[in-house]
Order: sequence, then structure tokens, then C-alpha cells
Amino acid sequence: MGRVIAIDGPSGAGKSTVSRRVAECLGFSFLDTGALYRAAALYLHRKRLTADSSEEALRSTLEGTEVVFRKGSVFLNGEDVSGAIRTPEAGHYASVFSARKAVREYLFQVQRDAALHGDIVAEGRDMTTVVFPDAWKKFYLDASEDGRAWRRYQQLKEKGIEISMEEALRDVRERDLRDSQRDIAPLRRAEDALYIDTTNMSLDEVIACILSSLKQ
Ligand code: DC
Repeated sequence: MGRVIAIDGPSGAGKSTVSRRVAECLGFSFLDTGALYRAAALYLHRKRLTADSSEEALRSTLEGTEVVFRKGSVFLNGEDVSGAIRTPEAGHYASVFSARKAVREYLFQVQRDAALHGDIVAEGRDMTTVVFPDAWKKFYLDASEDGRAWRRYQQLKEKGIEISMEEALRDVRERDLRDSQRDIAPLRRAEDALYIDTTNMSLDEVIACILSSLKQ
């Protein structure tokens, strides 16, 4: 097992970009677990499963399915779905299906395996609490609701996806509520994670803050 830097936080707090850049600086691999949840949800949605599907139906559909995150891209049974998982709709399904036990159990091992052969920076909602409770270093990135909605809005615009600021705010609120209130592995701040409020910080400042805390 390599060293793990675990980073959690709500959507739009800047986790992905920060984690990827920290990993690059340190020569660690980067694991975007949201991408895994998005890919698994995309598959379940394609197979016509819904929020009302039984645990057994979810489990058997995922059995034998391969979801892999490699060098910044995510593959679903060999298909590169990196673009398809980035729509607001895919984010919605990821948030819905990630509340289900069968989905979390399925991805638990995929995430643990990612740390078997080297050092990683893993970001998500339960990296510091459930998947890597013994991580080498832990961080919790947060930001105001408006700040996170603004980031989400800009990210989607850059990808050419039409969204209004109101829709981005609604999306962030709805997902926060679901991700932090679900019964299994809800988003919460681990006591031993360093809390960083990124609202008034540039990405470079957040990265510098993490890198300097690693040296201590
Ligand atoms: O970080 P993201 O927006 O790509 O994540 C999409 C959804 O996946 C998010 O709403 C909650 C879920 N998720 C999760 O439950 N646990 C993780 N470790 C990562 C993501």
C-alpha cells in the first residue's frame, strides 16, 4: 500500500483541480472517485435502473462491470466515458446512486486497489472517513455555497454546457443535501483532516497551503 493523501469536501470546492495538481507536484497518482461514481451511475442509468431499483438489481447489474480511472480518464467496460460523465444529468445520477449500498460496496474495492501499487492523492466525499481512514494526510476543502455554485457554473460553461447561475446553485444545494444526509458514508469532516476554506483563495494558494502542510 502506498501513501495516501485523502481529500474530501462538497461539490464545487475545487477538489479535483487541486488534487490533480498536488499529485503532479509530488509525483503521486491522482484518483478522482467522483468520476468512478459518475461512470457507475451512467451504466446503471443506461441499463434503466432507477432510484427505486432494489439493492439486488443494482448489485447484479454492477457485477462483472469494469470501472477504471486511469491517467485522468475514466473507462466503463473499456469505453472512455470521461466526457459523458461530466453533464449535470450525470452528476445528478451519481449523487442518487451513490447513496445506495450496492454501489458503494462495489466501488470500495476499486478505490482501495488504486492505492496498492503506489502513492496516490484520492479525492471524494468519504476518502478521509471510510475508504482511507488511515491515510497519510487528510484535508477537507470547503467554500461558501455561492462560491461553489460559481465554480460549477464556470466549469460547465468551459465545457460548452448551457447552465444558468440559478441552475448551478440549485444543483449544488440539492447535491450537498443528498451527499451529506444519506445513511451510508455521508460527506462529513473528519476530525483529523485539515480544514481549508477556499472561498477567497486562488487554486494556487490552496495548492501551496496543502504542499506546505505536507512538509510539516
Ligand atoms: O465529485 P463529483 O461531483 O464528481 O461526484 C459526483 C457524485 O458522486 C457526488 O454527488 C457524490 C458521489 N460521490 C460519493 O458519494 N463519494 C465519493 N467518494 C465521490 C463522489
